[in-house]
Amino acid sequence: MSKVKLGIIGSRFQADCIAASVKAMPEEAEVVAVASPTPGHAEAFARRHAIPVFHSDYREMLRDPAIEMISITAPNRLHARITIEAAQAGKHVVCEKPLCLTLEDADAMIDACAKAGVLLLYAEELFFAPKYVKAKQMADEGAFGRVHLVKQGEKHSGPHSDWFWDVEQSGGGALMDLGCHGIAFCWWFLGKPKVKSVYAQVSTQVHGGRTEGDDEAITLIEFDNGAVGMVENSWNRPGGMDDRIEVFGDKGQTYADLLMGNALPTYSEVGFGYAVEKAASTRGWTYPVFEEQWNYGFPQEMRHFARCVRGKETPMSDGETGRVVQEVLYAAYASAGLGRKVTLPFRPKGITKPIDLWKHPGLAQAAR
Ligand SMILES: NC(=O)c1ccc[n+]([C@@H]2O[C@H](COP(=O)([O-])OP(=O)(O)OC[C@H]3O[C@@H](n4cnc5c(N)ncnc54)[C@H](O)[C@@H]3O)[C@@H](O)[C@H]2O)c1
Repeated sequence: MSKVKLGIIGSRFQADCIAASVKAMPEEAEVVAVASPTPGHAEAFARRHAIPVFHSDYREMLRDPAIEMISITAPNRLHARITIEAAQAGKHVVCEKPLCLTLEDADAMIDACAKAGVLLLYAEELFFAPKYVKAKQMADEGAFGRVHLVKQGEKHSGPHSDWFWDVEQSGGGALMDLGCHGIAFCWWFLGKPKVKSVYAQVSTQVHGGRTEGDDEAITLIEFDNGAVGMVENSWNRPGGMDDRIEVFGDKGQTYADLLMGNALPTYSEVGFGYAVEKAASTRGWTYPVFEEQWNYGFPQEMRHFARCVRGKETPMSDGETGRVVQEVLYAAYASAGLGRKVTLPFRPKGITKPIDLWKHPGLAQAAR
């Protein structure tokens, strides 16, 4: 069977990661086009990654019959619209996290893809991160007995592009941007149990001058099997990305630091090119990580998605995964606004972005 022909929408941070990841495991997919609106960016990206075709409007790319699957690496507010248009054009969709801004959008995306007979693949790379996969394999073997607590934390110094800080475009702050990983992770790790309730504390501690979004968040998720997930997120942690898990059962526990455990404790008085995502400096003590994208699971994720398109594998992460995460994001922001636990199902209608449920607790109250 031929390689799956992929078009990337967007040409910056995550687009680079996807292009490099497909190249790292090239046997199932190839990037054949890129689309991005900023003049010159798509062309420069195409040149950098040796991609034959570039467009300034993604709709031109959707009209190309050669494209089978698209990867959406555009800002959050565009995910729903692009997914629906891509499905109508008969393309399989890989959508970056978070799935979208609203539960109505999530429903519409899932429906559009189902109606068109294409896959909606939700790009949660932590399901493919080798260290975390190993932890789950051990848990599934019974190594820790009955797992009752799973923690995941993702923290850094704050996003690289302005739109993340603008809640109209992102839908929320650190909880929305980083917490979506932890919510998906805890749910997946525990075998996808139903979510019973959510409690969250969110605040803006450092970046109030720059954003209306939260830059600190702690979320507790109670699952119907009695286990608890705890998700910690921050946009206030300088020194490079911090991504880690802890797993506790009655027969044991495991701890994994996704990046640091693979890093080289390094001291340099003069600095060097690159250490790790979001590290501002390479002078003094730093922890440069090798095979960064591989350790996150990005190449493995894209290989899996391409194999799903060819019917060789069943999606591990799809639109339904993204919708579960979205409902927990709603409940977490509502909980922070109300100052108490929120039970699921929690599907308030007419919310335009999750963070509104924190800023305007009346919206959450009205929804009960
Ligand atoms: N899985 C992960 O760990 C991970 C990491 C980073 C980003 N992401 C997600 O990927 C998405 C993109 O984030 P990023 O960091 O690459 O942002 P970015 O700001 O670096 O890049 C955004 C890109 O979208 C393009 N874009 C803007 N409007 C567009 C439009 N109308 N049509 C097509 N392209 C358009 C921009 O030109 C730019 O190339 C976000 O949803 C983000 O949450 C996921």
